[in-house]
Order: sequence, then C-alpha cells, then structure tokens
Amino acid sequence: MWRTRNELGNGDLPKVVMEFCSEAGVVEHSCEIYLFGATLTSWKHFGTEKIFVSPSAIWNGVKAIRGGIPLVFPQFGQPNTSLPQHGFARIKNWDLSSTTSDTKSVTAEFRLRDDGQTFQQWPFHFALTYTVVLTASSLHCNLHISNIGESPFCCQALLHTYLTIGNINDVSIFGFTGLSYLDKVEAGVTAVDSDHERIIRSEVDRVYLEEYSGKIPDIIIRSINNESDVTSLKVMKRATHVKIGGVEDKPVDVVLWNPWIEKSTALVDMPNDGYLNFLCVEPGVVQGWTDLLPGECLSLNQELIPVHDSKEEQNLTSS
Ligand code: BG6
Repeated sequence: MWRTRNELGNGDLPKVVMEFCSEAGVVEHSCEIYLFGATLTSWKHFGTEKIFVSPSAIWNGVKAIRGGIPLVFPQFGQPNTSLPQHGFARIKNWDLSSTTSDTKSVTAEFRLRDDGQTFQQWPFHFALTYTVVLTASSLHCNLHISNIGESPFCCQALLHTYLTIGNINDVSIFGFTGLSYLDKVEAGVTAVDSDHERIIRSEVDRVYLEEYSGKIPDIIIRSINNESDVTSLKVMKRATHVKIGGVEDKPVDVVLWNPWIEKSTALVDMPNDGYLNFLCVEPGVVQGWTDLLPGECLSLNQELIPVHDSKEEQNLTSS
C-alpha cells in the first residue's frame, strides 16, 4: 500500500512522509520532504538510504538544509548579489498542494509563488510546482517554473542532489568521459574530462556543460564497499522549455561537487570528515540564463534509479 502522512521533523519543521508498506507491514520504500525549501531529505529503497543529509545540518527554518535535494532557483551560485547564494527557493516555506497514490506510486506536489519578500529581491511574478513521485524502482523529481507575470525574466534552476555513498574513496562515476566542464576549483577554466571513469581524491566542483559537450548521457555512480557489496545508481535528467509556439528540449548541465576536507571543515553545518560520505550530482539549467516570456515555463526533471542487474550496469559503464 502506498500512503502519505504529515509529521513534524527535525526542528519541529513540517514534513511529508511517502511510503510503500507491504502486506506484512514492512516499509519497503519511503521518502521525506520538508516544506522548508521543499527539500527532500530521505529516500530509502528497500530500506537503504540513498540521500545524504549532514549530521550537523541546521534545522532552524532559515538556513538551507545541508543535504537532501535543495532546490536552486532563480540563480545558481550568486551572480546577482541582491539574491541569496543559489536563490531563495531552498529557504522559502512551500505549500503542499496535493498527495495522491495508486497501485504503483505515491506523488506529492508542492507550490511556491512570489511574495513581497521575493519581489523585493527579484521583481518578477513566478509560480513553482515541485512534484516528487516515488515508485518501487525510482524517485522522480520535477521542478516546473512558470512566468505568471507580464514581464519576461531570466533564470537558472538546479536540483542540488546529495547522494549518500559508503566512502568517497570507493566511488567511481561514469558518463562524463569526453565532456567539457567548467572547473570552479581552477578559477572557472574550461577543460575536457578524458578519464573513462571519474574517481575523486580531492575537492571537485565542476559544471559539465551540455551545450558545449553534446548530450550528457545518464550518469552512473558506483560505490564499492567490498567485493560483494557494489551499489549503483543511475541519474537521468531532462529539461524542456514550454514556449508559446511549442516545447523545446533544453540542454541539462550537471554539477559534480565534493568539498573534500578543507571546505568540509569550513562549513559550519558539516562534520570535518563529512565529505567522505556524500557526492553531489546536480542536474540543472545553469549555463547562461533561460529567458522565460510571460506564459512560458521551464521544466527540470531528474530520475534516480538504483541499478541492480550487473549486466545492465556493465553495459552502462562500458559505453
Ligand atoms: C555547488 C556549487 O552546487 O554547491 C559549489 O557548485 C558550492 O560551488 C556548493 O560550494 C554548496 O553551496 P552552498 O551554498 O549550499 O554551501
């Protein structure tokens, strides 16, 4: 049975719990989403947590939750200094607009509209809808941005996904070979990733650019805990720009971030060794700006799929 309930979570902040409970009463799949930032903070697939939240995260309803899937809008980073870093969507209280379930899934939908505070920082009328669908095989997240005002606006958007991993030293990432990226660790130079599999042994902060690289394939993150315990996760992504005249696919960039030890230590809401246990793989539309005319929409999707079958995994990682 797929079901939802509303609860108070850390810091007494309201959250929605979505889950599948078997006839034997075992919760096999679940996820949790706080209304603060509409931040998804947990996704358990057959009881195994896939999402990282910092043990030192601050739950005061003011600071963005360190971990989960914070929503980045209307800017990535802080190109516009009158807006907060990564925009305001991750630090606003969203409304839960609906929850529905059927025999195969459970869905929650959240909404955020401009208000006096956002208008002061960013003078546009927008409507955001965030839809999370949990099934037995995947977690699907869709951020839908509509321009409901009378003036055009430019925006960026990103799903800042923190994935939990056993240990960063045992992780390989596939899918970035041959792609151009902007290296934020090296003062924003662009380079091409020539490695077949990406392993991380120092700070990494890259924006893989679909516009310059061609299509970025599905990304596979493989964690090897020991020889008999290999887990893989596939990240699929898609964005569309719904224009008055029709729908166009948008290039989806992917940010790869791990702060490593020095930056972990500098973050107040991360243990010094927190970098060992997570990796951010963040699909977004962040290269340049998307111009949304009145009535237009930008839709950003990510689907996370645990990969079980070793043959499927081999095909994915050898391509
Ligand atoms: C990543 C950026 O998306 O987010 C990094 O590429 C940044 O540069 C990181 O450090 C975390 O940002 P914040 O604002 O949540 O500390």
